[in-house]
Amino acid sequence: MKKYSALMLTMVLALALVVSSCQTTSNSSAVIKTDEERKDFQSAEAMGTEFVISTQGRASSKAAEEMFAQGGNIIDATVAASFAVGVERPQSTGIGGGGFLLYHEAKTGKTYAIDFRERAPLRASKDMYLVNGKADENLSQNGATAVAVPGMVAGLIEIQKRFGSLPLKTVMAPSIRLAEEGFAIYEDFHAAMVDRVAELRKDPSARKIFLDAKGQVPPVGTVLVQKDLAKTLRKISEQGRDGFYKGSVAKSIIDYSKKKKGYISEKDLQSYEVKWREPVRGTFHGYEVFSMPPPSSGGVHVVQFLNFLEKDSLSKYGMHSTEAIHLAASALQASFADRAKYLGDPDFVEVPVKGLISPKYIEARRAEVKMDHARKAKEVQAGNPLPYESNQTTHISVMDNRGNAVSTTQTINGWMGASVVAPGTGIVLNNEMDDFSAQEGASNLFGAIGGKPNAIAPKKTPLSSMSPTILIKDKLPRMAVGAPGGTKIISCVAQTILNYVEFKTSLYDAVAAVRYHHQWQPDVLYIDPPGPRPEVLQGLKDLGYEVKIESVPCHVMAVAREGDKLRGVADPRDIGISLAK
Ligand code: GLY
Repeated sequence: MKKYSALMLTMVLALALVVSSCQTTSNSSAVIKTDEERKDFQSAEAMGTEFVISTQGRASSKAAEEMFAQGGNIIDATVAASFAVGVERPQSTGIGGGGFLLYHEAKTGKTYAIDFRERAPLRASKDMYLVNGKADENLSQNGATAVAVPGMVAGLIEIQKRFGSLPLKTVMAPSIRLAEEGFAIYEDFHAAMVDRVAELRKDPSARKIFLDAKGQVPPVGTVLVQKDLAKTLRKISEQGRDGFYKGSVAKSIIDYSKKKKGYISEKDLQSYEVKWREPVRGTFHGYEVFSMPPPSSGGVHVVQFLNFLEKDSLSKYGMHSTEAIHLAASALQASFADRAKYLGDPDFVEVPVKGLISPKYIEARRAEVKMDHARKAKEVQAGNPLPYESNQTTHISVMDNRGNAVSTTQTINGWMGASVVAPGTGIVLNNEMDDFSAQEGASNLFGAIGGKPNAIAPKKTPLSSMSPTILIKDKLPRMAVGAPGGTKIISCVAQTILNYVEFKTSLYDAVAAVRYHHQWQPDVLYIDPPGPRPEVLQGLKDLGYEVKIESVPCHVMAVAREGDKLRGVADPRDIGISLAK
C-alpha cells in the first residue's frame, strides 16, 4: 500500500496539537494554522438560525454563503461549494471525479440518495490490472490507466436542475473566479503535492499547473492560478453537462486516454448516467439514520456500527474507556469482514443490504464478541446475513431553517487522483479504478481487502466507503455529517454520531475527539496520537489488540440543528471553515 508519508507527518504534528485541546469545546485557533494568512479568517465552528455550512475550504464555504445571500436555496449553496472545493482542493476532489449526495427535502419529507460516482469504462475487464498474475497497483493508481469515467459534472448539474433555484452561471461563478484569481497554497495541499511529485512530473499538463519551472512543488503561500480549469468551468456554466461530456473538453480527455493507453472512450463519456438510489435506513437512540447505500459500503456499515453498540449504552463505560473502544473496534472488525465478502455495485451483484442491517443479524454479530479478549483477524469472518434477508475525497454538510439538509462526499480518490491532467482542460483526473478489487484478496490504496462482488466490469461502479449521513427526528434533520478518508470514513462518521448521540458531547467535541479505526485487515487498532490514557492503552493491549498510535486522518464536516439554532463544525484538524447566519 502506498503511504502518503509527508502528509501523514503533517497530520501527526497537527493532531498532537488538536488532541491536546480536544476535550473541551473551544475555538480551534491554535490548531494546524502554520499558514498565518489563513489563521485570521478561519473558524472551525459557527452558529446561526438561517443556514449553516461546513466544508473543507474557506472559499468553498464562502461560495455557499454567497448563494444564500443571493436568494438561492440549499442546493444552490451545495452545488456552488462543490464546484469551488474542486478548485480549492485539487488534491482531493474536482470535476475529474465523482461523488454521492444525500438530500433531505423538507417540502416532501423525502431523503434522496444520488450517485454520481465514477464508472468503469466500457473497455474495462476483470483482470485488466494483472501483470504476471499479480495486481499492479501502479496501473490502477497512476496515469491514464487508473482513470474511471468521471460523474461529478453530470451529478451536480442534474441535482441543480431538479432542486436548485438560481441559474447555473450564478452558481458556478465563485468557482470560476477562484480558478482565475487563484489562492495561496496551504500546508495540506503542499504535502499532498510533495507526496505525488514524482507522478506529477511525468505528466506535462499536471507539471505545468502544479510545479515550478524546475519541477518542484512551489512553497506554501504561492498563489496557484488555474486558468485552463477556469475556462473549462466557464464552458460548463454556459453549456451545462455538454460542456464536459461533449466538445473540446471531452475530446481532450478521449485523445489523452488513447495516447496514454487509457480506457476512456467517447461512448463512455456520452453514456454516463447519474443514478438515483434508495438511502440505507436504520435507527439509533430514537433517530432515523439515512445514509448512502451500495455502491457505497459506508451507509451499511455506519448503521451496523451504531446498532451493534446501541444496547451496550457505552456511556456507562466512558467515551474513551477500554470497554468502549474494544466494543467499537469489534463492531468495525465485523463490518469490514462483511464489506470484503458482500459489498459491491448493486447493479451487478446481489448485495444483501436488508440482512446486513437487520437488527437480529447485528445482534448475532454482537454476541460473537467477548469482553475479555480482542479477536484476531482470523477469528472474525463475514457473517451470514442471508437468512435475515427477505429479499483523499472531501465532504460538505449544509442545513437550513426550513428543514432541508445536504450531506455530500466527493472525490478523485487518492491524493491528486491519477496525477494527470487532460491537456488544456485543467482537470485532474481521478484514480477511482483502484477502488475495485484488481484481484480477489489484494488490497487497494486504503488497505481494503478486495472481494468478488467488487471485481471490475464495464460500466460498473467501484465500491466506496463514502458515508454521507443525515439523522432525522420528529421529521426534522438533526445532524448531517460525513468525511473524506478512504476506509476510515466509516469509522470517523460512525464515531462522530456515537460521540454526539450516545456520549452527548458538543458537536465540536464529537468532531475533534481522538478517533480509532479497525478494518479487520490489517489486524491493527489505530488510535489518534497521543493515544488514550495509559491505563486504557494497556487495557486494550491486555485484551490482545495490536495498537498503533497513528492518525486516523479523516476530516469530519458536521452540521446540526439544536433547538432553533443551527451549528456547524469543520474538523479543526483541517483548514476548512463553518459559516452560519
Ligand atoms: N475513493 C474512496 C472511497 O470512495 O471510498
